[in-house]
Amino acid sequence: MSNVVHFQECSFCGKHKNIVKKLIVGESSAICNDCVDMCIDLLKDEEEPHAIVNTNTLYPDDVKSYLDQYIIGQDRAKMIISVAVCNHYKRISNKSDAVSVQKSNVLILGPTGSGKTLLAKTVAKYLDVPFVVADATSLTEAGYVGDDVESMIVRLVAAADGDIERAQRGIVFIDEIDKIARKSESASITRDVSGEGVQQALLKLVEGTICRIPQSGKRKNPNSDMIEVDTTNILFIAGGAFVGLSELIANRIDGNSIGFGATINNQRKADSYLEQVTPDDLTKFGMIPEFTGRFTSRVSISELTKEQLVAILTQVRNSYISQYHFLLGIDSIELAFDQPAIEQIAENCLKLKTGARGLHTEIERVLLPHMYNVQKYRNSNINKINISRELVENPVSLLENHESR
Ligand SMILES: Nc1ncnc2c1ncn2[C@@H]1O[C@H](COP(=O)(O)OP(=O)(O)OP(=O)(O)O)[C@@H](O)[C@H]1O
Ligand SMILES: [Mg+2]
Repeated sequence: MSNVVHFQECSFCGKHKNIVKKLIVGESSAICNDCVDMCIDLLKDEEEPHAIVNTNTLYPDDVKSYLDQYIIGQDRAKMIISVAVCNHYKRISNKSDAVSVQKSNVLILGPTGSGKTLLAKTVAKYLDVPFVVADATSLTEAGYVGDDVESMIVRLVAAADGDIERAQRGIVFIDEIDKIARKSESASITRDVSGEGVQQALLKLVEGTICRIPQSGKRKNPNSDMIEVDTTNILFIAGGAFVGLSELIANRIDGNSIGFGATINNQRKADSYLEQVTPDDLTKFGMIPEFTGRFTSRVSISELTKEQLVAILTQVRNSYISQYHFLLGIDSIELAFDQPAIEQIAENCLKLKTGARGLHTEIERVLLPHMYNVQKYRNSNINKINISRELVENPVSLLENHESR
């Protein structure tokens, strides 16, 4: 005999189901929508206030181990970033009259889709500090159409839920920084508004200034329209692909042997040049020296190899495969990939030249017929999809195989 109770009333407030909007019934109790709302409010109040980074227990090797879980390869970059963030947060938490440690922002250079944004994002997650990604290409000097540089700070305050203190210790990642390089090395030809102007506008902000921004409407200063944010302790990380920079460096190191405009076909070689970047090279590329001077921690990352792409698919936490595994799991369908299939996906991805981003494209392409037919699979009792190399080369639904037999 089943002992299911049919609840008519909320077990918490006793209201009858006819007078509440919704009654959620469990096996041994029921709860109404009003009580759910009250519980949510209760939990919200008790949420831990966000800790300001505890620098006593902040060590670069721990940061790196954390990064290792999410990011494959790029060991040198991970080390440099781990040290840079630890120093940054130690510097701002321990003020000394005798020594003043200079702020050093971080510049990450390297090919598209190889983990620049991911590195910055993961570091911010580890530190539990507010984080925003801004796109340098959408920034303009104040007075021009577009977002002025202060908009990044407005967004950082929003990411900190309006908590100015927390925002002032946040991280701003400026992506595509190479796109605001000035077009010609001699500044005299024409003043280049979109590039150099934005670099100029960023200088103050990056070094540390009091920035007045419109109030976001959340908490604090109910009487004033503008709030002041000190950017001195905000860590700026800039990232860019800097296409053509490795050729510039090669020309400096090996003389003019490869010639301007030529490309280095060997990616490993290009990566090793990038590692030797100097402020002068960046100036030649079109970054103004004052800008480069404020990003003293420079990190280059390298293009991912096939083996690394395979690891990204299978080993990292929250890998693409585990994401689709989860999605199909919702419909009780199991997803598995043969090793040759995974290798084929990695190989196809290398050809796309979009770094690990290509993996996402490839997986979508391969899984499309299966995801489209989920309903039919369920109706035909297909509860496992095994992706073989053939299904990577020619993605067809399993039903087609069934039908053609
Ligand atoms: N080294 C890596 N380890 C794990 N996953 C990676 C790695 N590199 C890239 N990815 C995956 O590829 C996606 C894109 O990477 P990311 O956004 O970091 O590229 P990027 O270097 O910032 O490129 P872009 O120059 O185009 O901005 C990430 O979200 C992640 O899923
Ligand atoms: Mg990026």
